Amino acid sequence: MSKMLITGRRRLCGDVTVQGAKNSALPILAATVLTKGESVLYNCPDLSDVEASLQILRYLGLKAQRSGGTVLVQSDGLSRHDIPDELMRKTRSSIVFLGAVLASAGRVKLCLPGGCEIGMRPIDYHLKALRRLGAVIRERHGCLDCRAPHGLKGADITLPFPSVGATEDIILAACTASGTTTITNAAREPEITDLADYLNKCGAQIHGAGESTVIIDGVNSLSGIDHAIIPDRIVAATLMSCAAMTGGDITLKGVVNSHLGAVLSVFEDAGCTFSAFENELRIKAPEGKRLRPMKIVRTMPYPGFPTDAQAPLLAAAAIADGTTVFIENIFENRYRHTAELVRMGADIKTEGKFAVVEGVERLYGAAVEATDLRGAAALIAAGLCAEGVTELSGVRFLERGYEHFELTLSALGADVKKI
Ligand code: UD1
Repeated sequence: MSKMLITGRRRLCGDVTVQGAKNSALPILAATVLTKGESVLYNCPDLSDVEASLQILRYLGLKAQRSGGTVLVQSDGLSRHDIPDELMRKTRSSIVFLGAVLASAGRVKLCLPGGCEIGMRPIDYHLKALRRLGAVIRERHGCLDCRAPHGLKGADITLPFPSVGATEDIILAACTASGTTTITNAAREPEITDLADYLNKCGAQIHGAGESTVIIDGVNSLSGIDHAIIPDRIVAATLMSCAAMTGGDITLKGVVNSHLGAVLSVFEDAGCTFSAFENELRIKAPEGKRLRPMKIVRTMPYPGFPTDAQAPLLAAAAIADGTTVFIENIFENRYRHTAELVRMGADIKTEGKFAVVEGVERLYGAAVEATDLRGAAALIAAGLCAEGVTELSGVRFLERGYEHFELTLSALGADVKKI
């Protein structure tokens, strides 16, 4: 089991190139099962969640290999339509294979990934939508056997909530269905647009991705293509927290500034200043002053403040000069890192979807344990500004979403070692 040792109170300075987005890479890898021929995916982050998707592709009969940041997928049709439990459980996002394999093979058998560290994460929207597209789904003991006996047929689907995964699953299932599918109340996250961009380059007809109504005209076939994954806006937000908490001055390279609107505005409230250039964003922490409290931060579907950036921002609020209230509207169990921040000296109270963070002047290094991906990032950010040494266990959670994070931070002047 690896640990991270962080010696705090080093100011982060310099330039950093932001990795490709995990949440784009995963559905795009699933989308390759719909294609024939070769797809070359650039800027594909080297993460355990991405590796799990590559393993699923290989199990299904595709060739998938990585060379640096580039992943090459060769797809000549699937040799099977089942995904074993141990592969499904490696990453919860494997659920997007449901729509993709069903559309490609006409059948899919898999066991549900189940709840996870941050909440129950049901998939009822996915199943209801696939049934509307003509799937016959048998659910037994947590496993699904889905068939499309008469092929998938376009339908009008209204989501009760703009679920990212359900929107992606429907897009994947509908691309090669007969007729037109309309998704109302679709998720608008940039990762949905990236998935649609990839699929449209492969020959799909997806209109309106990134808006609330997405229209998919089914096509007969899709061909593999080259595609560069968009930069990871959550990693960018995490690095902003690290800079803000250490009085830093860093430039994020290769970012899409328009994806960061809600995050930027909260860091501005905290007293940070920004200069944006094309694909670059410089963030400067307030000089010689503490961060200001951010008053109320509500997590919302995009373009609202992202739930995935809540934990790292909450770490910053823990050392602000006043009180910040967080309202977590997306997942029900997303404050587990706060108990560990309290061990480091933070003053945080949580109740249901609320967290009240009374900023303290200083955090202190401690032995802490991460229990989920973004919570791990929050504890690293806290360790970077804390007095003394923080020993973080549960590093495997971090590695699901942050590529060689200790190297990224060390290059900016932090003292972080993986042991
Ligand atoms: C994706 C992201 C995750 C991010 C989340 C919200 C990936 C791989 N993961 O997760 O990092 O935190 O979006 O931006 O892209 N829900 C249901 N029934 C369903 C589906 C969802 O009730 O069938 C609920 C969920 O429990 C949750 C809410 O809808 O409360 C949003 O979930 P969703 O947008 O689907 O998140 P994911 O796609 O799982």
